[in-house]
Amino acid sequence: MTKRVTVLISGSGSNLQALLDAEKAGKLGNDISVTYVVSSSKKAYGLTRAEEAGVPTAVHSLYRYTKEIKKEDTESRRQARDKFESDLAQVVVDTKPDLVVCAGWLLILGPVFLTQLKGIPILNLHPALPGQFDGTTHAIEMAWNKCQTENKPLTAGCMVHYVIEEVDKGEPLVVKELELIPGQETLEQYEERVHKAEHIAIVEATIKALQ
Ligand code: GRF
Repeated sequence: MTKRVTVLISGSGSNLQALLDAEKAGKLGNDISVTYVVSSSKKAYGLTRAEEAGVPTAVHSLYRYTKEIKKEDTESRRQARDKFESDLAQVVVDTKPDLVVCAGWLLILGPVFLTQLKGIPILNLHPALPGQFDGTTHAIEMAWNKCQTENKPLTAGCMVHYVIEEVDKGEPLVVKELELIPGQETLEQYEERVHKAEHIAIVEATIKALQ
């Protein structure tokens, strides 16, 4: 029986590509397959990657739910957000996943989504170590800046963890440590190292979660 993986993306999808490549090369395990990709943006390049690999896709964008609501109308925005999450959960559940992998998915998945997933495990990739730079989309830059500003070596890196309500605080499944030395590399070079480590971590974590 195939173990079905639904991947959630928002952008470039290089981590999705790592999973697709691993599957194609027979390195994901015979029984594991990326069977669906859901994107929070219709412009995400990851959608093209999925289509090229013959994987069905869906777009589920928050903007569609909030675009007509004024910024100051916080109650209506909260309700729209809950509806977005509830509908997203339905889209994901309908793809019949054994595992959901957030690979560069940029939106927080709140209690409405998590409750409806009813125990289907969800992984998230975060470009920082457990407990470092939680809940930010700038973790790579923040780690690099901290090392330069404090002018001392820093152990940073990335992880794949289980998703729970507290953002980036779920149990880590795969952790990749990277040493940062002040003045040794540019932010872009460090970014590249993180992405390489992420591409390995996401494949390892997917296999591990389905063992
Ligand atoms: C990764 O660095 C991930 O950790 C971060 O967003 C990036 C996604 O890259 N949250 P991609 O879309 O998989 O190329």
